[in-house]
Amino acid sequence: MDAVNSKDRKLVNDLVIQVLRDSMFVLEQTRLVHWGINGSKFYQIHLLTGDIQDEMHAGVDTIAEHARSINIMTPLSVNNLFSTRIQEINMSNPYDEDKIILELSVVHDMLASLFEELAKYAGMIGDDLTQDMAADRGREHKKHQWHLRSTLTYNYETDEDVKQNEESKS
Ligand SMILES: [Fe+2]
Repeated sequence: MDAVNSKDRKLVNDLVIQVLRDSMFVLEQTRLVHWGINGSKFYQIHLLTGDIQDEMHAGVDTIAEHARSINIMTPLSVNNLFSTRIQEINMSNPYDEDKIILELSVVHDMLASLFEELAKYAGMIGDDLTQDMAADRGREHKKHQWHLRSTLTYNYETDEDVKQNEESKS
């Protein structure tokens, strides 16, 4: 990795910390659904989001400890740790369970995309260990979004689905 441009290295380092922040936010968002959701799917979603939290507790530790192992500093304040790129989901009606489940699945999918982005940049500078960590975390969040979405019984459409449908028609 000695021929790497320092700007490229900094971009990857900054992204490692940003995905840590985004992951902490998604972990807490998952926790709010675990506690707050109401309706016929409560128990199923309560258990699923409990499992996702368990996986993510280990996951955020892996990201932070990977950062420290390659000499990147981790956030030193809680405020910094939670400055995320991810928008909070709307839980103002905790009885609207399918909407909440769909929104949480979209958040996990977005996080998976952010890990994919990091994997791509890390690959470009030959940082195999970061690329590998990012690919692993991305894969886990793809799985979480799938498990959440698969509990929906109606034909849902996200903005991304609508865009893909339109593209396949044209
Ligand atoms: Fe719990």
